Amino acid sequence: MNDPLFSVADQVVLVSGGSRGIGRGIAEGFASRGARVIITGRDAGTLEAAARELSGSRYAVTTLVCDVTNSAEIQPLVENVLQTHGRIDTLINVAGINRRQPAEEVTEADWDAILDTNLKGAFLLSQAVGRYMLRIGRGSQINIASLNNYAPLKHVAPYAASKAGLGHLTRALALEWGPRGVRVNAIAPGFILTDLTRQLWAQPHMQSWGQNITPLRRLGNPQDMVGAAIFLASEAASFLTGQIITVDGGVSAGIPWPIEQTS
Ligand code: NAI
Repeated sequence: MNDPLFSVADQVVLVSGGSRGIGRGIAEGFASRGARVIITGRDAGTLEAAARELSGSRYAVTTLVCDVTNSAEIQPLVENVLQTHGRIDTLINVAGINRRQPAEEVTEADWDAILDTNLKGAFLLSQAVGRYMLRIGRGSQINIASLNNYAPLKHVAPYAASKAGLGHLTRALALEWGPRGVRVNAIAPGFILTDLTRQLWAQPHMQSWGQNITPLRRLGNPQDMVGAAIFLASEAASFLTGQIITVDGGVSAGIPWPIEQTS
């Protein structure tokens, strides 16, 4: 924390989907290291309750309502942050949803809800913050992608497509904005225990599969994402853009087939 190379102290950091889960964990990670964190989400009450529980070491965490699927709310959010805090150093696009079901049962409404949140919403927020960052010639953006970037999981086709899109969007924006001082990277979390996935991992067969397929032998938690996010936002990552850092306990390292049992 005392090393300026990895410092995020005094950065203004905007976190979408910051009221719970991975977003909340990351927001806390930045706030406790002296950043000025603004969490956004759809519901004022939920955001305020979360902000009260998150203690910042220098600044209190503040909240602004923004549904990323509502394009009309995005520019006012960015202007509000700039008016109140004077700048945005780091944007973290965390807001995301999933609906698990066989592809043949996905409705158009399911598809739209998932893609509008995970991909279009992330793009519109990146773009609005990006226009400001390009104007001042610096800034960092971090998208929360998924293991589905690496290989799609069964029964989450729209989600997998949205996250693959987000991975490519990360690279596309890095390519365009790098020459003008704006870095864009992503974190691809593995299997993380949050409200989005708690029911899934409560099933014993899923729990044991999740542990077995993860070389580090446990599911992740939101705090496991903090190190990569701090790194990407800090000076330490100043020559790093267009990358997806997979934080998955090693799941994507290889395929742990049960060879001991068969050889
Ligand atoms: P979560 O459901 O606990 O949190 C999602 C957050 O996004 C909530 O704060 C929610 O209010 C917000 N959100 C949803 N729709 C929104 C909208 N339209 N506008 C603004 N905010 C909105 O889920 P979790 O697990 O914390 O996921 C966070 C991100 O991490 C998502 O993008 C998810 O796809 C991604 N992720 C999660 C993994 C996991 O295993 N939990 C694995 C890989 C990626």
